[in-house]
Amino acid sequence: MVKFMILKVSKSSVLSGDVYISGSKNAAMPCICAALLTKQKVILKNVPDIIDVNNLLTIIKKQGVRVKKKDDIVIIQAKRLKTRVLSDLVETLRGSYYLMGSILSRKNKLKIKYPGGCNIGSRPIDYHLKAFQELGFNVIEEENKIVIREMTRTSKDVTFPKISLGATINVLLLSSTFLKEVKITNPSLEPEVLCLIDMLKKMGVSIDILDKQIIIKGARKLKGVSHSIIYDRIEAGSYIYLVGAIQKSKVFIHNAPIEHLQTVIMVARKMGIIVYKKDNILVVEGNKGIKKINLLIGEYPFFPTDLQQIITVVLTKAKSSSTIEDPIFPNRILHLKELKKMNAFIYEQNQVIHIKPCILSPGIIYATDLRCAFALIVAGAITSGTTYIKNIDYLFRGYEEPIKKLRHIGVNVEIL
Ligand code: EPZ
Repeated sequence: MVKFMILKVSKSSVLSGDVYISGSKNAAMPCICAALLTKQKVILKNVPDIIDVNNLLTIIKKQGVRVKKKDDIVIIQAKRLKTRVLSDLVETLRGSYYLMGSILSRKNKLKIKYPGGCNIGSRPIDYHLKAFQELGFNVIEEENKIVIREMTRTSKDVTFPKISLGATINVLLLSSTFLKEVKITNPSLEPEVLCLIDMLKKMGVSIDILDKQIIIKGARKLKGVSHSIIYDRIEAGSYIYLVGAIQKSKVFIHNAPIEHLQTVIMVARKMGIIVYKKDNILVVEGNKGIKKINLLIGEYPFFPTDLQQIITVVLTKAKSSSTIEDPIFPNRILHLKELKKMNAFIYEQNQVIHIKPCILSPGIIYATDLRCAFALIVAGAITSGTTYIKNIDYLFRGYEEPIKKLRHIGVNVEIL
């Protein structure tokens, strides 16, 4: 990714107006790859117009797949499906790892570059590769690519040592054409996984979800389908905490998947953020004084790791010290260095982030990943003066029309 965009952010007083949440990045990518499981036409709706999704669509076009995109609707037909995925784009996004499960579901071999991903700590894919081996594939890791060949497809129980969104999705994609049952023990059951499962069921895959287990029985030929992507709970949470950080605001958040935001809303309220539901709209009215919290992050339905950097910024406004522990990505701490440049009194010790009350000062800071980019915008919006955020390009990987949405509710942002 070429890093050249700088964002100028000035203190934003009261925020008001409406923000409309888009389709989920982390649900759209698996569903795009699920369209490769069939030669029939697949229509996906509510697909967000963001860099990672558009790059994934470019990659599958290079694999011979027909792709048509109009607004938030994407039509995909994979009559052909090449098995050498060597585009440099593969290394720019984590979601390209779903091409492994989807291509291997139809083909008996694959050569693919290593997937990319935000620098939020190490991003291994050992669970994915081990699952492929257990399901009967030979996996060879080379310098900068992976070569996978089918030996004998073996339906069996795949158990993950840790809950993994990506690895769960890859096994779901691959086993969708297995004729005998595949079981996933200790799966991720995040909303994004359930969105994919809905789509696979419509395509003819039978899937049962038991307590801590998913049972899949695939089909040889899967049907074409029309499927809507769920709304993005992380984008919605990002705006809840942004607006909640600025007193006397009143913003209406439309299309927020409220059923996926229960913990996010509960924690916001615990911090003193005024957030409530009116009809099917989330209303955020700033805060009545930010309170400290001690937060342990966990897999859904617990508090999501993707909002850790953003809530860290808001907690600098609390009257006493807070702590956050993120066992999923304990090294998701590059934003701390940037916040220290703004005089934040913040540090990490034994995988716990400590946030002390402080008044941030403006500065020149660097976005290090897409959620950090949004977190630094929150920092600039609550700080007197003007802050400059470099490498803001990351923001456009996961947020649709962020500058338009931010300006529409009164955040003083400008791309230089
Ligand atoms: C997905 O990443 C998301 N990315 C992340 O969102 C999200 O933070 C993460 O899930 C957790 O919810 C996409 O969906 C593209 P994991 P993923 O496999 O699949 C370890 C964003 O901002 N692990 O659930 O990489 C891993 O290190 C991004 O949108 C292995 O050890 O996450 C982590 O500690 C950031 N080996 C834990 O499991 C593996 O093979 C959970 O990771 C895979 C994972």
